[in-house]
Amino acid sequence: MIWKTKITEMLGIKYPIILGAAAGKHNIKLTAAVSNAGGFGILTGSSFRNQEKFRNALLEIKEITNKSFGINLTPNNPVGFSKEPIPKFFRFLEIAKEEQINTIITAGSKIEEFGKKIKEYEMNWIHKVTTMRHAMYGEKMGADAIILTGLEGAGFKNPKQNTFLINMVNADRILKLPLIASGGISNGKGMLMALISGAQAVHLCTAFLATTESPIPDSWKQRIIDTDCFDPNIIKKVCQFDLDTPKINDLSLAAGTVNKIISAEELVNNIINEAEKILKNLGFQEDIINFIQ
Ligand SMILES: Cc1cc2nc3c(=O)[nH]c(=O)nc-3n(C[C@H](O)[C@H](O)[C@H](O)COP(=O)(O)O)c2cc1C
Repeated sequence: MIWKTKITEMLGIKYPIILGAAAGKHNIKLTAAVSNAGGFGILTGSSFRNQEKFRNALLEIKEITNKSFGINLTPNNPVGFSKEPIPKFFRFLEIAKEEQINTIITAGSKIEEFGKKIKEYEMNWIHKVTTMRHAMYGEKMGADAIILTGLEGAGFKNPKQNTFLINMVNADRILKLPLIASGGISNGKGMLMALISGAQAVHLCTAFLATTESPIPDSWKQRIIDTDCFDPNIIKKVCQFDLDTPKINDLSLAAGTVNKIISAEELVNNIINEAEKILKNLGFQEDIINFIQ
């Protein structure tokens, strides 16, 4: 089956599956493996302390894959790496341009100037957010697509964050830009639910962190596998309803459906095969599945 969405067209990829950023928790192998599998690999800029290491990583990825991949850059990070100098990210953006990278995924706040530079360089600009209000801000600032992470996901937590389902059922009446669903997605059912509800791709971090190419320790991968998404303590930890200050959370409810360490390619294939099986069972017989309205 050929998968056609606004995001597969924009990024030139086979499947509407994007690797989620994880500073210091990804490596070039995982980025390249996701792109080689037909998805869109991402390299997280915050993982690199200097320009030379960053450029070398881009060159090394290009040696493993001839497929396209993107860069996540978060110049204004409210937590975590907030102490990093913002000019560093402008320089990383220049390097990405010099190395013919076509897509930048931003996250964080006060993104106008950075976004303008991305568009000046004629690159795709995808802005990642946790609330609908920030999605509207990204749209207004001129992003080309929005990744909206639901409460189920890991990463930044925001008291105004809503669930994947509520985001999906409201997005198309609020946003005009192509939407990429994120948060708690790890299989074909999750991807199909998102696409049928109007998303143009899905964005997965936790499920890819548990793959063989991921550099996190095996004990962490096992923790993802062992996580019970119906455990009240896990739900409480992921959702963090009692927020006073923004926090980064390394746990996602996606962990609840990951039950084996497999390669990134197997994960992508499993997602696609499961989704295609569901479509066939529903009587869908076309060779092309087109989600572009
Ligand atoms: C360990 C870890 C580190 C992360 N680091 C980043 C980061 O550096 N930048 C970023 O934009 N998002 C980061 N995220 C958020 C993910 O990219 C993604 O938006 C989020 O995990 C939701 O997807 P999931 O439910 O599939 O994990 C991180 C997530 C995890 C689990």
